[in-house]
Amino acid sequence: MGRIVHLVSLLFVCLMLGCETPVSDLHSTNLRCEYLHNPLAIEQKTPRLSWEVKANGRRKSQSAYQILVASSTELLAQNIGDLWNSGKVISDETVNINYRGTKLNSRASCYWKVKVWDQNDVASAWSDNAKWSMGLLHENDWTAQWIGYDEALRDSLKYGTQPWANGVERKKEYRPLPCPYLRKEFDLEKEVSSAKVYITSLGIYEMYLNGVRVGEDYFTPGWTDYNKRIYYNTYDIGNLLKQGANTIAVILADGWYAGSVSNKGQHYYGENLRLKAQIEIQLESGDTIEVISDGSWRAAYGGIREADMQMGEVFDARLEPDGWQLNGFDDGNWSEVVSSDTITAQLQSYPGVPVQQTSEIKPIEVFETRSGVYVVDLGQNFAGWAKIRINETRGDSIVLRYAEKLNPDSSLYRRNLRGARATDIFIANGREEEVWEPRFTYHGFQYIEISGCSQPVTIESIRGVVLHSNLEQTGSFSSSNLLINKIYENIFWSQRSNYFEVPTDCPQRDERAGWLGDAQLFMRTASYNMDIAPFYTKWLVDVSDAQFEGGTISSVAPYVRVAYAAGWGDAAIICPWQLYHTYADTQVIARHYETMKLWMKFTESKSENDLSTLMSFGDWQNVKSETPTKVVATAYYRRSTALMAEMAQLLGRNDDAIEYKNLSENIKRSFTENLVSDSGHVEGRTQTGYLLALAFDLVPDSMRPTLVEHLVDDIISRDTSLSTGILGTHLLLPTLAENGHLDLAYKLLLKTDFPSWGHHIENGATTIWERWDGYSAEKGFVDDDINSFNHYAYGSIGEWFYSTIAGIQSDGPGYKQIIIHPKPGGGITHAEATYKSIRGYIASSWTITGGEFQLNVSIPANTTAKIYMPTSEPNDIREGEQLISQVKDCRVSLWDSKTTLIEVGSGDYSFQAKITE
Ligand code: BGC
Repeated sequence: MGRIVHLVSLLFVCLMLGCETPVSDLHSTNLRCEYLHNPLAIEQKTPRLSWEVKANGRRKSQSAYQILVASSTELLAQNIGDLWNSGKVISDETVNINYRGTKLNSRASCYWKVKVWDQNDVASAWSDNAKWSMGLLHENDWTAQWIGYDEALRDSLKYGTQPWANGVERKKEYRPLPCPYLRKEFDLEKEVSSAKVYITSLGIYEMYLNGVRVGEDYFTPGWTDYNKRIYYNTYDIGNLLKQGANTIAVILADGWYAGSVSNKGQHYYGENLRLKAQIEIQLESGDTIEVISDGSWRAAYGGIREADMQMGEVFDARLEPDGWQLNGFDDGNWSEVVSSDTITAQLQSYPGVPVQQTSEIKPIEVFETRSGVYVVDLGQNFAGWAKIRINETRGDSIVLRYAEKLNPDSSLYRRNLRGARATDIFIANGREEEVWEPRFTYHGFQYIEISGCSQPVTIESIRGVVLHSNLEQTGSFSSSNLLINKIYENIFWSQRSNYFEVPTDCPQRDERAGWLGDAQLFMRTASYNMDIAPFYTKWLVDVSDAQFEGGTISSVAPYVRVAYAAGWGDAAIICPWQLYHTYADTQVIARHYETMKLWMKFTESKSENDLSTLMSFGDWQNVKSETPTKVVATAYYRRSTALMAEMAQLLGRNDDAIEYKNLSENIKRSFTENLVSDSGHVEGRTQTGYLLALAFDLVPDSMRPTLVEHLVDDIISRDTSLSTGILGTHLLLPTLAENGHLDLAYKLLLKTDFPSWGHHIENGATTIWERWDGYSAEKGFVDDDINSFNHYAYGSIGEWFYSTIAGIQSDGPGYKQIIIHPKPGGGITHAEATYKSIRGYIASSWTITGGEFQLNVSIPANTTAKIYMPTSEPNDIREGEQLISQVKDCRVSLWDSKTTLIEVGSGDYSFQAKITE
């Protein structure tokens, strides 16, 4: 009793004096659910929650957390987690924590927040609120019907109908059709409290409510194998609806579904465009109302006469029905819609990152090439389209043709576009000023030729609109070397241009496909530059969907029929592993484990004596230096089995782990015995052969120095040049640097003669090119068929800028332990990189002045780091103003004869030391 009295009086005194419970300055931010901020339609039964912890000062960590999930903001404000209260969980985990509360139904709103405890067990304040909502989890949640308008298609159909691609011979010639416009007017008797739309289509759609475009996304609902899976998008539309009359209007276009895709022409997946839309409205009165796509909608064609992803868009402004998206429009002479009930593909909530407009580019130059024909130079190659402002007579056609390069006579170089027409046409209505941009096509370009204008085209009348999957930028890099900075910038632009709904090979020619090989080898670079977690979560489903029963995987995903290949199919194993490594994501491994096993089984069935006989596209785009297919295939066989052993272990599949480990060792043995000579020459004697053998650990340690020697000799014998294609280039700089040839790695990076990144830049590159010899001032264009000027594959060296020049790496999965190990060279005096990891912000910045190495680093709370300084004198290192021995936050030890290791916790540090030469 006395004790209680004491506590109460203490509380009273506290209240009177205003003292509070101590609150840790450690706090949680950046709350995400399934990698997304406040997602509107989650389908995972136990969604994964992540946050970052932040704190000032050093050695800050999380010792425990508590998650509250409530069904309303009111409950959450009272700290009541009616859906889930995790209680205080003793754990330093902040990433991918599964929700473990009550079962969540379709549409459930889940408001959540986190409290964390620091290293001294002092609690933080609660985080800001975050939210996720559940999607439509059951088929019967959908009442909307699939509707469309086929009149133009019916007229043009001279051959088979759905089911698609079942042996019906498709005509190859391009036969464009106008886009269906669909509309419906409806009344709401009461004020709207909240509303959502769940919407999808076969083909792509654009939706308007009362004349306002819904959302900022383009090319929705994205690209999948539409026979298997169709995603729906969810938008909050409460503020677009009002009491009284409302109008929903939708345009459908061919997209990937019915338009030109890869080099397969139109109608690869199907031809009947369809819409399914379900608006669910909560009225202030408490009533719920649904407005759905059904037979009551009206349809017609409008101004968009054709729209094709590769060919372009034709818009006749004279044919655009005025006000068709608004209430009161007379659709009396519009037609009835048709509906389909035979679509059986799985409907799921879109898990990826939609394409959006991210910036506009102002031209650097506009010039007239022939009378009335203007060429606009945007100064940057990119993916997107043009936005043009015109003042023309009714019926005049403005033609916009796109190209990446110019011919010597300043005309557009378009032969590399192959079958992609890449042309947009705008036919004027005659209004005083018309601003137009396409919506359902995109182009890869730097130049636009504009003809048909009666007045001169000016810099002010045109803009380049940049579009891509709007992934959050996570990385930055710069150095004292302008060439390296430009290579970095070009890599970034090629990622932007090719992370376009799926990781594509190129944005300009009639291909633009999700090539697996390119995707796997660029992925690590990509993951430094941007947050690729949701983008790859989506794409890996496309990869699994591109697998056949026997385990083969089409080399392109979403599925387009292309042969399987070693190094390409292996993306099914390498990419989930990379996601695990970057984001500590084990669920992705579990989800795709069977796909991986099947691919391995297939590869095994195609192996003899543990050497893979799989076909491969080889070291694509090498410099006359073909690596034998069995070297490539067996190297990837080894790489994949080694990763499988690690992933099986992670999932607790111990038998599998042992099996893959043994297989992997047998492959190594067989590779050495059969494909490496006694003198250490890898069959084919190519740089890529040596690189694969070294990087994927295919020879015993004792042989490594000889292989390194052969690799280096080959490079030197070519006037210090690479001869690698996309598979070898990816491994070139890291393998040289890790095997004692850092200087040579820098030399190759800094070269400006053929073949090199610098050579591209000297010839005007603003992106990464597909071929080393794509174009040069002396030789012009060497090839028209395979000559993309925006292909990210050679850009896979970007990872080395972050991991080696600036030195930021993850030591194990998900940046819980961080390595900062910069390796200066090439005469560079300064480099800096930042990286927003899954656990927070990391920075490394170094400068060399007069033999002194200055290294500034930032390490996020709740992580530790090993920092490497290029000195053999640990005791001489200074941190800030002090000798390091006096700094209690740093543990120092000699690492090797020239390097000191400093172990630290979170915080900002500034080290300085004399470099040991
Ligand atoms: C693509 C490459 C791809 C290759 C397969 C090409 O057409 O553009 O990037 O990996 O085919 O060899």
